[in-house]
Amino acid sequence: MGLLPHPFRALVIGSSGTIGSAFMELLQNNPSCSMVVGISRQSAPSIDYQIPESIELAAKALASKAPFQLIINTIGVLHSADWMPEKKLDDLNADQLSELMKINAIGPALTIRHFSKLLDSQHSIMATLSAKVGSIEDNRLGGWYGYRASKAALNMLIKTAAIELGRIKPNTALVALHPGTVNSRLSKPFKGEQIGRPALDAVSDLFKVIESIEKQDSGSFLSYSGEKLPW
Ligand SMILES: NC(=O)c1ccc[n+]([C@@H]2O[C@H](COP(=O)([O-])OP(=O)(O)OC[C@H]3O[C@@H](n4cnc5c(N)ncnc54)[C@H](OP(=O)(O)O)[C@@H]3O)[C@@H](O)[C@H]2O)c1
Repeated sequence: MGLLPHPFRALVIGSSGTIGSAFMELLQNNPSCSMVVGISRQSAPSIDYQIPESIELAAKALASKAPFQLIINTIGVLHSADWMPEKKLDDLNADQLSELMKINAIGPALTIRHFSKLLDSQHSIMATLSAKVGSIEDNRLGGWYGYRASKAALNMLIKTAAIELGRIKPNTALVALHPGTVNSRLSKPFKGEQIGRPALDAVSDLFKVIESIEKQDSGSFLSYSGEKLPW
Protein backbone atom coordinates (compact mmCIF):
# COMPACT_ATOMS: atom_id res chain seq x y z
CA MET A 1 0.00 0.00 0.00
CA GLY A 2 1.53 3.35 -1.09
CA LEU A 3 2.08 6.12 1.47
CA LEU A 4 0.46 8.87 -0.59
CA PRO A 5 -3.17 9.25 0.52
CA HIS A 6 -6.11 10.29 -1.67
CA PRO A 7 -6.91 13.15 -1.62
CA PHE A 8 -3.54 14.81 -0.99
CA ARG A 9 -2.09 18.34 -0.84
CA ALA A 10 1.13 19.03 -2.73
CA LEU A 11 3.93 21.57 -2.78
CA VAL A 12 6.34 21.93 -5.71
CA ILE A 13 9.60 23.72 -4.91
CA GLY A 14 11.24 25.10 -8.05
CA SER A 15 7.90 25.43 -9.86
CA SER A 16 9.43 27.80 -12.46
CA GLY A 17 11.72 25.09 -13.88
CA THR A 18 10.96 22.70 -16.73
CA ILE A 19 10.38 19.65 -14.52
CA GLY A 20 8.85 21.79 -11.73
CA SER A 21 6.28 23.39 -14.06
CA ALA A 22 5.45 19.99 -15.57
CA PHE A 23 4.80 18.67 -12.04
CA MET A 24 2.52 21.69 -11.43
CA GLU A 25 0.55 20.88 -14.60
CA LEU A 26 0.32 17.16 -13.77
CA LEU A 27 -0.86 17.80 -10.20
CA GLN A 28 -3.34 20.55 -11.21
CA ASN A 29 -4.94 17.98 -13.53
CA ASN A 30 -4.96 15.17 -10.96
CA PRO A 31 -8.42 14.96 -9.31
CA SER A 32 -6.86 13.39 -6.18
CA CYS A 33 -4.69 16.46 -5.65
CA SER A 34 -6.90 18.83 -3.66
CA MET A 35 -4.36 21.68 -3.63
CA VAL A 36 -0.99 22.31 -5.24
CA VAL A 37 1.24 25.23 -4.30
CA GLY A 38 4.33 26.14 -6.32
CA ILE A 39 7.25 28.23 -5.10
CA SER A 40 10.36 29.51 -6.83
CA ARG A 41 12.70 32.51 -6.92
CA GLN A 42 9.86 34.44 -8.60
CA SER A 43 6.97 33.50 -6.29
CA ALA A 44 5.69 35.03 -3.06
CA PRO A 45 6.94 33.69 -0.73
CA SER A 46 10.14 33.17 -2.72
CA ILE A 47 12.87 30.60 -2.24
CA ASP A 48 16.37 31.43 -3.44
CA TYR A 49 19.32 29.17 -2.66
CA GLN A 50 21.67 32.16 -2.99
CA ILE A 51 19.88 33.50 0.10
CA PRO A 52 19.75 30.56 2.57
CA GLU A 53 17.53 32.52 4.99
CA SER A 54 14.80 32.55 2.31
CA ILE A 55 14.37 28.79 2.81
CA GLU A 56 13.23 29.05 6.44
CA LEU A 57 11.17 32.17 5.69
CA ALA A 58 9.35 30.43 2.83
CA ALA A 59 8.62 27.38 5.00
CA LYS A 60 7.24 29.60 7.77
CA ALA A 61 5.11 31.54 5.27
CA LEU A 62 3.56 28.29 4.02
CA ALA A 63 2.86 26.83 7.47
CA SER A 64 -0.80 27.95 7.26
CA LYS A 65 -1.27 25.74 4.15
CA ALA A 66 0.27 22.67 5.83
CA PRO A 67 0.14 19.75 6.28
CA PHE A 68 1.29 18.63 2.86
CA GLN A 69 1.22 14.96 1.97
CA LEU A 70 3.61 15.47 -0.97
CA ILE A 71 6.56 17.87 -1.34
CA ILE A 72 8.68 17.70 -4.49
CA ASN A 73 11.88 19.75 -4.77
CA THR A 74 13.08 20.21 -8.35
CA ILE A 75 15.68 22.96 -7.85
CA GLY A 76 19.07 22.21 -9.37
CA VAL A 77 21.82 23.57 -11.63
CA LEU A 78 24.29 22.00 -14.06
CA HIS A 79 25.69 25.09 -15.79
CA SER A 80 25.52 28.85 -15.54
CA ALA A 81 26.22 31.89 -17.68
CA ASP A 82 29.79 31.79 -16.29
CA TRP A 83 30.69 28.11 -16.39
CA MET A 84 29.96 24.70 -17.91
CA PRO A 85 30.48 21.24 -16.35
CA GLU A 86 34.18 20.41 -15.94
CA LYS A 87 35.56 17.91 -18.48
CA LYS A 88 38.95 17.40 -16.80
CA LEU A 89 40.83 18.02 -13.56
CA ASP A 90 42.39 21.19 -14.96
CA ASP A 91 38.90 22.69 -15.29
CA LEU A 92 38.23 22.42 -11.51
CA ASN A 93 37.86 25.72 -9.72
CA ALA A 94 36.67 26.71 -6.27
CA ASP A 95 33.91 29.10 -7.35
CA GLN A 96 32.11 26.58 -9.55
CA LEU A 97 32.47 23.75 -7.02
CA SER A 98 31.10 25.93 -4.20
CA GLU A 99 28.24 27.19 -6.34
CA LEU A 100 27.16 23.66 -7.28
CA MET A 101 27.37 22.53 -3.66
CA LYS A 102 25.34 25.55 -2.55
CA ILE A 103 22.50 25.05 -5.06
CA ASN A 104 22.42 21.25 -5.44
CA ALA A 105 23.25 20.05 -1.92
CA ILE A 106 23.15 22.75 0.78
CA GLY A 107 19.92 24.40 -0.42
CA PRO A 108 18.01 21.10 -0.76
CA ALA A 109 19.32 19.92 2.66
CA LEU A 110 18.11 23.10 4.38
CA THR A 111 14.86 22.67 2.47
CA ILE A 112 14.47 19.20 4.01
CA ARG A 113 15.29 20.72 7.40
CA HIS A 114 12.63 23.44 7.25
CA PHE A 115 9.97 21.95 4.97
CA SER A 116 9.87 18.50 6.59
CA LYS A 117 8.06 20.29 9.43
CA LEU A 118 5.18 20.92 6.99
CA LEU A 119 4.76 17.23 6.14
CA ASP A 120 1.74 15.28 7.34
CA SER A 121 2.98 12.98 10.09
CA GLN A 122 0.23 10.44 9.28
CA HIS A 123 1.41 9.76 5.70
CA SER A 124 3.64 11.87 3.47
CA ILE A 125 6.45 11.86 0.94
CA MET A 126 9.21 14.38 0.28
CA ALA A 127 11.01 13.76 -3.01
CA THR A 128 14.10 15.68 -4.13
CA LEU A 129 15.32 15.60 -7.71
CA SER A 130 18.81 14.16 -7.85
CA ALA A 131 20.57 12.66 -10.90
CA LYS A 132 21.97 9.24 -11.74
CA VAL A 133 25.33 10.86 -12.51
CA GLY A 134 25.50 11.51 -8.75
CA SER A 135 25.78 7.74 -8.19
CA ILE A 136 29.37 6.95 -7.15
CA GLU A 137 28.87 3.28 -8.01
CA ASP A 138 27.52 4.06 -11.47
CA ASN A 139 30.27 6.55 -12.45
CA ARG A 140 31.96 5.06 -15.49
CA LEU A 141 32.49 8.07 -17.75
CA GLY A 142 34.04 10.61 -15.35
CA GLY A 143 33.80 14.37 -15.98
CA TRP A 144 31.14 16.76 -14.60
CA TYR A 145 33.03 16.77 -11.28
CA GLY A 146 31.03 19.45 -9.46
CA TYR A 147 27.59 18.31 -10.58
CA ARG A 148 28.35 14.66 -9.79
CA ALA A 149 29.85 15.55 -6.40
CA SER A 150 27.02 17.89 -5.46
CA LYS A 151 24.36 15.29 -6.31
CA ALA A 152 26.35 12.59 -4.43
CA ALA A 153 26.42 14.96 -1.42
CA LEU A 154 22.70 15.57 -1.85
CA ASN A 155 22.08 11.80 -1.88
CA MET A 156 23.99 11.37 1.39
CA LEU A 157 22.07 14.25 2.99
CA ILE A 158 18.73 12.70 1.92
CA LYS A 159 19.73 9.24 3.19
CA THR A 160 20.91 10.65 6.53
CA ALA A 161 17.76 12.76 6.99
CA ALA A 162 15.61 9.73 6.09
CA ILE A 163 17.20 7.77 8.96
CA GLU A 164 16.51 10.59 11.44
CA LEU A 165 12.96 11.19 10.20
CA GLY A 166 12.32 7.45 10.31
CA ARG A 167 12.55 7.77 14.09
CA ILE A 168 10.43 10.89 14.55
CA LYS A 169 8.07 10.74 11.56
CA PRO A 170 7.92 7.01 10.74
CA ASN A 171 5.09 7.50 8.23
CA THR A 172 7.12 9.90 6.09
CA ALA A 173 9.35 8.80 3.21
CA LEU A 174 12.26 10.89 1.98
CA VAL A 175 13.60 9.89 -1.43
CA ALA A 176 15.99 11.01 -4.16
CA LEU A 177 14.55 10.79 -7.68
CA HIS A 178 16.30 10.49 -11.06
CA PRO A 179 14.10 11.83 -13.89
CA GLY A 180 16.11 10.45 -16.85
CA THR A 181 17.28 12.85 -19.55
CA VAL A 182 14.61 15.51 -19.98
CA ASN A 183 14.42 18.24 -22.61
CA SER A 184 14.93 21.29 -20.40
CA ARG A 185 16.95 24.46 -19.83
CA LEU A 186 19.41 22.38 -17.81
CA SER A 187 20.02 19.78 -20.54
CA LYS A 188 19.86 22.16 -23.53
CA PRO A 189 23.65 22.61 -23.96
CA PHE A 190 24.04 18.80 -23.94
CA LYS A 191 21.70 17.92 -26.84
CA GLY A 192 18.75 17.86 -24.41
CA GLU A 193 16.38 18.82 -27.21
CA GLN A 194 17.44 15.80 -29.27
CA ILE A 195 18.02 13.16 -26.59
CA GLY A 196 15.76 14.36 -23.75
CA ARG A 197 12.15 13.36 -23.19
CA PRO A 198 9.31 15.88 -22.84
CA ALA A 199 9.08 16.94 -19.18
CA LEU A 200 5.44 15.84 -18.93
CA ASP A 201 6.36 12.26 -19.89
CA ALA A 202 9.13 12.25 -17.26
CA VAL A 203 6.92 13.62 -14.47
CA SER A 204 4.11 11.23 -15.29
CA ASP A 205 6.59 8.34 -14.82
CA LEU A 206 8.01 9.95 -11.66
CA PHE A 207 4.51 10.39 -10.24
CA LYS A 208 3.79 6.66 -10.75
CA VAL A 209 6.98 5.95 -8.79
CA ILE A 210 5.90 8.41 -6.05
CA GLU A 211 2.49 6.71 -5.82
CA SER A 212 4.17 3.35 -5.28
CA ILE A 213 6.45 4.57 -2.45
CA GLU A 214 5.95 2.79 0.87
CA LYS A 215 7.47 3.79 4.19
CA GLN A 216 10.22 1.20 3.91
CA ASP A 217 11.36 2.96 0.69
CA SER A 218 12.44 6.01 2.69
CA GLY A 219 16.12 6.74 2.08
CA SER A 220 16.09 5.29 -1.47
CA PHE A 221 17.44 6.64 -4.74
CA LEU A 222 14.77 5.84 -7.34
CA SER A 223 14.78 6.13 -11.10
CA TYR A 224 11.73 7.23 -13.15
CA SER A 225 11.38 3.56 -14.12
CA GLY A 226 10.92 2.57 -10.46
CA GLU A 227 14.37 0.92 -10.33
CA LYS A 228 16.36 1.42 -7.10
CA LEU A 229 19.66 3.04 -8.10
CA PRO A 230 22.99 2.31 -6.43
CA TRP A 231 24.34 5.18 -4.32
N1 LIG B 1 16.83 17.76 -17.28
C1 LIG B 1 17.48 16.61 -17.08
O1 LIG B 1 17.83 15.90 -18.03
C2 LIG B 1 17.80 16.17 -15.67
C3 LIG B 1 18.46 14.92 -15.51
C4 LIG B 1 18.77 14.51 -14.21
C5 LIG B 1 18.41 15.29 -13.12
N2 LIG B 1 17.78 16.49 -13.33
C6 LIG B 1 17.46 17.28 -12.14
O2 LIG B 1 16.10 17.68 -12.20
C7 LIG B 1 15.93 18.95 -11.54
C8 LIG B 1 15.13 19.91 -12.42
O3 LIG B 1 15.87 20.15 -13.61
P1 LIG B 1 15.22 20.84 -14.91
O4 LIG B 1 15.68 19.99 -16.05
O5 LIG B 1 13.78 21.11 -14.72
O6 LIG B 1 16.06 22.20 -14.96
P2 LIG B 1 15.57 23.71 -15.18
O7 LIG B 1 14.49 23.80 -16.19
O8 LIG B 1 16.84 24.46 -15.43
O9 LIG B 1 14.97 24.12 -13.74
C9 LIG B 1 15.82 24.36 -12.65
C10 LIG B 1 15.05 24.94 -11.50
O10 LIG B 1 15.99 25.27 -10.46
C11 LIG B 1 15.75 26.63 -10.06
N3 LIG B 1 16.94 27.26 -9.53
C12 LIG B 1 18.17 27.36 -10.08
N4 LIG B 1 18.98 28.07 -9.27
C13 LIG B 1 18.25 28.41 -8.18
C14 LIG B 1 18.50 29.14 -6.99
N5 LIG B 1 19.69 29.72 -6.75
N6 LIG B 1 17.51 29.28 -6.08
C15 LIG B 1 16.28 28.75 -6.30
N7 LIG B 1 15.97 28.08 -7.43
C16 LIG B 1 16.95 27.91 -8.34
C17 LIG B 1 15.28 27.32 -11.33
O11 LIG B 1 14.69 28.55 -10.98
P3 LIG B 1 14.60 29.80 -12.01
O12 LIG B 1 13.44 29.50 -12.93
O13 LIG B 1 14.38 30.97 -11.12
O14 LIG B 1 15.93 29.84 -12.74
C18 LIG B 1 14.31 26.26 -11.83
O15 LIG B 1 13.10 26.32 -11.12
C19 LIG B 1 17.35 19.42 -11.17
O16 LIG B 1 17.60 19.14 -9.81
C20 LIG B 1 18.24 18.58 -12.05
O17 LIG B 1 19.53 18.38 -11.49
C21 LIG B 1 17.46 16.95 -14.56
